[in-house]
Amino acid sequence: AFAAAGAATYPSWAQSGGTFKAVNTPSANFHPDVEIELTQDIAQVPIFEGPETRVWKVRAKVLKGPASSIENHPDTYLAPTIRLKKGQKVRIHLNNNLPAHSILHWHGLHVPANMDGNPMYAVSHGESYIYEFEILNRAGTYWYHAHTHSVTAKQVYSGLAGLFIVHDDEERALNLPKGEFDLPLVIQDRSFDKNNQLDYSNHMMQRMQGFLGDRIFVNGRPDYVLPVAGQAYRLRLLNGSNSRIYKLAWSDGSKMTVIGTDGGLLERPKQYSYVMLAPGERIELWADFSGRSVGSEISMRSLSFDISTHGHGGMGMMGGGRGMMGGGRRGMMGGGGMGMMHSSDLPSGSEYSLFNVKVIKAGKSSQSLPERLSTIPKLNVRDAANNKDPRTIRLSMRHMSALLNGRSYKMDDVRDDEIIPVNSLQVIEFDNGYSGMSGMPMPHPMHLHGEQFQIIKRQVNPKSREAYRTISGGLVWGGWKDTALVMPGEKVTVLKPFNDFIGLFMYHCHNLEHEDMGMMRDFLIK
Ligand code: C2O
Ligand code: CU
Repeated sequence: AFAAAGAATYPSWAQSGGTFKAVNTPSANFHPDVEIELTQDIAQVPIFEGPETRVWKVRAKVLKGPASSIENHPDTYLAPTIRLKKGQKVRIHLNNNLPAHSILHWHGLHVPANMDGNPMYAVSHGESYIYEFEILNRAGTYWYHAHTHSVTAKQVYSGLAGLFIVHDDEERALNLPKGEFDLPLVIQDRSFDKNNQLDYSNHMMQRMQGFLGDRIFVNGRPDYVLPVAGQAYRLRLLNGSNSRIYKLAWSDGSKMTVIGTDGGLLERPKQYSYVMLAPGERIELWADFSGRSVGSEISMRSLSFDISTHGHGGMGMMGGGRGMMGGGRRGMMGGGGMGMMHSSDLPSGSEYSLFNVKVIKAGKSSQSLPERLSTIPKLNVRDAANNKDPRTIRLSMRHMSALLNGRSYKMDDVRDDEIIPVNSLQVIEFDNGYSGMSGMPMPHPMHLHGEQFQIIKRQVNPKSREAYRTISGGLVWGGWKDTALVMPGEKVTVLKPFNDFIGLFMYHCHNLEHEDMGMMRDFLIK
């Protein structure tokens, strides 16, 4: 374990960039451009008519810097949006007034280990954590959320998640839609009881596939309608759901124009008939409504897909609601014996609408999509320190446990194969039962903390090709990523730089129920 070896081996606080040291007071030698206070409290918010909903609410206040650095969403569970620029130094005071310990993680940002929201830094009721870091990432749609050991899913569900948008000069120089034409859309599923209270009870029922809510929420609102002008928009979609995977498509069959992924803009726009978006992933779209008449509507849908390895068109374990883990009411685990627990009315892999876009007025400007958006240095496997010996992470799920290389999460527990030399490029393979050894077949969106990576290969077991076929045309890669969906029977290879910071950085499944079931580990960068 690193704890024993650590004290002697690791550099001092200053040399390490703050590794291993919890921070509860501002440091005198850090001079922030922006200073933000985030306070977590229990609050009642008016999501529906009738009784207000009790949520875990994050409220933001700017203590220093531009007021536009934050945007509160007071009428729903959604946490504030943070907007900063590359190069800015930020200090964030997290005040935890919740009746539980908690810590926030800045998903996709490259920050020192003790600024990264590792569960070991969770603070209790009445305590604060002080984050101080520079924004090193390029422009992109990042986000933040609770990362508290074994209760991440429930805390995120209750409201501890929001957007963290980064802008930079390269992006500003492009003629992309800005301001009110640059819209974030946080997609989540939730269930509510008849008193308008958040209902998380079906996570037990559906434990192996994680929580699935009955309704889709966008930016914290049900039945979301996006009013637009007839012109071009930049839409930033985040799948902030605990477990639900979306197969996104426009309702009229028009192509989706993807301009960005987890780590910012692609080199060039790419068109897809549909896009798979797993928990934790982001996608940026160029959506031009200028050809549409005022009053017309279009919706964003999730199309049906088969996520079983067996490819029986929805009859598999996870498919369309008829199988063992599916809709439940007709399945093995559903029905009377399970008491009050119920499974989702919106089975995973079924087809449904996410939100409507309504053109309410003519557009003011006409804009054309830039042909070239950015330059993305292509990482080369030959430059990887371990190019002869990829690190394999086997994903498996059995007997109510979710494992990485057969291990479940334990704090302060780093094994030899989890130690990575700092400033190295690494080849990492996520193996989801490629050889048929994963136990229960399940998709796993794998997330790595720290720097963004590039996906270089996807391989599919011939036996699972049929199921894979229903999603494979919508997997977007070729840009920077921090989360990669790994389907059952698939092996995904990524190249990831581990630069600048030493210390513990997590790798885990971003299906939050899987994460809480143990499908999470630390890498030690040293
Ligand atoms: Cu978005 Cu470690 O998580
Ligand atoms: Cu998983």
